[in-house]
Amino acid sequence: MTDVEKREAAVPAPAGWDYAPAPEARDIVQLRERYGLFVGGQWLEPTDTYTTISPATEEPLAEIAQASADEVTEAVAAARVAFEDGWSGLPGSERAKYLFRIARILQERAREFAVLESLNGGKPIKESRDVDVPLAAAHFFYYAGWADKLEYAFPNRNPRPLGVAGQIIPWNFPLLMLAWKIAPALAAGNTVVLKPAETTPLSALLFCDVLRQAELPAGVVNIVTGDGRTGAALVESEVDKIAFTGSTDVGKAIQRQLAGRPVKLTLELGGKAANVIFDDAALDQAVEGIVNGIYFNQGHVCCAGSRLFVQESVTDDVIRKLKRRMGTLRVGDPLDKNTDVGAINSRQQLEKIQELVESGREEGAEIYQPPCRLPEKGYWFAPTVFTEVAQSYRIAQEEIFGPVLSVLTFRTPEEALEKANNTPYGLSAGVWTEKGSRILWMAERLRAGVVWANTYNRFDPASPFGGYKESGFGREGGRHGLEPYLRFE
Ligand code: NAI
Ligand code: MG
Repeated sequence: MTDVEKREAAVPAPAGWDYAPAPEARDIVQLRERYGLFVGGQWLEPTDTYTTISPATEEPLAEIAQASADEVTEAVAAARVAFEDGWSGLPGSERAKYLFRIARILQERAREFAVLESLNGGKPIKESRDVDVPLAAAHFFYYAGWADKLEYAFPNRNPRPLGVAGQIIPWNFPLLMLAWKIAPALAAGNTVVLKPAETTPLSALLFCDVLRQAELPAGVVNIVTGDGRTGAALVESEVDKIAFTGSTDVGKAIQRQLAGRPVKLTLELGGKAANVIFDDAALDQAVEGIVNGIYFNQGHVCCAGSRLFVQESVTDDVIRKLKRRMGTLRVGDPLDKNTDVGAINSRQQLEKIQELVESGREEGAEIYQPPCRLPEKGYWFAPTVFTEVAQSYRIAQEEIFGPVLSVLTFRTPEEALEKANNTPYGLSAGVWTEKGSRILWMAERLRAGVVWANTYNRFDPASPFGGYKESGFGREGGRHGLEPYLRFE
């Protein structure tokens, strides 16, 4: 036994200790029974509806509009009128005022948004409270600052807005993705029709209240809810720009649908990020980074560190520490402030995770899940790690989008790099080492839009985010994030 092992063995995890329930009060959220479409500053009565639920309990929450192609056309027309009748002609400093107001209101109503986000999406309240909502507000603040400085952002290029932007977002970070899409679009002088994901429409619908409170002119932002058919109708409509975040398959379909049309496109798609641990890394910190990389938001993260590469000489240590740490993750009620891992977003996503995990077992990988009792109702999956994984296994190739980690090993930096880049995706990566020169060497060669060094899943509105290869194209965040919403004269 090494000294470290002795010390760890001497301090057993306290078996009988548990955390008392610490539920966040839910009554700050006032749900309506039924939501219409937010078009031209008004709520339109929908022709067709479906029920949105809480994935943690399967409890129905509200009736949501399933917008038809005609209703989408109406929303795009409202956005066009708003663009031509004022918004595009407003001085940037005036647009900035609205964005600052929206940011402030999001901060004021932060708790309400956090509870709603966890209720409808299943993510732990501590994440919606400390990550999603503050970052969403930060995006509006950040782009408010650019609205009157576009000429400085792109000197001598005379930036002009595009017109109407159609925006389609996923369910893993509903409010944050809304902010990533709407803030730069408005700062650049465009108007918007946004479609939230079908399983998580509620925070976007509450955001319509914020728009009214901020007195944003009618039609500048329109929200249409519904499933993929509504999304496809938006792509088909008379928009000037499509921004999409979601699966690679749908991204490809959108690209085909837009072929030959003068519509600007940005795609932020899937990922299968490599998180690379060298033998000189601070291993305890690295283990925290591994956990944050794959179990944050139940692994429903496009940049999740889902492929772990560990240098052979420290593999046993890292796996042992990781398993121990996994035993302390609390899985359960998303509204409990002590919860680390919440509910899987939908039955469909749970089935996808189960299918891929089954393939991992069948192909011969070794599975480990810490003992944990999952709630009876709702959609749940225990934190999972696979060792003995070969590069060819599906769990090492395909995006699982769940709390499932695949561990692989390497001997040299060259081998780590080659394996890390051996993926059709290229969104993000992590490198853990004490050596600054090695960080730079890796970061230069990893084919990934973002490379984190000795940290993981860090976001800042000033920092551009986006992918290579099948992870998509275009950048969101930073000055780069304005460009997809501008043309240059
Ligand atoms: P999806 O790509 O079908 O859904 C994302 C958004 O696109 C939703 O708003 C959806 O309504 C819309 N959409 C669906 N079909 C469309 C179409 N034909 N035209 C226009 N919009 C359409 O993703 P889904 O089915 O929810 O998840 C499947 C897998 O995709 C996940 O398991 C995960 O691997 C990946 N994914 C990646 C995300 C990311 O952040 N990069 C986010 C969500 C899913
Ligand atoms: Mg889909």
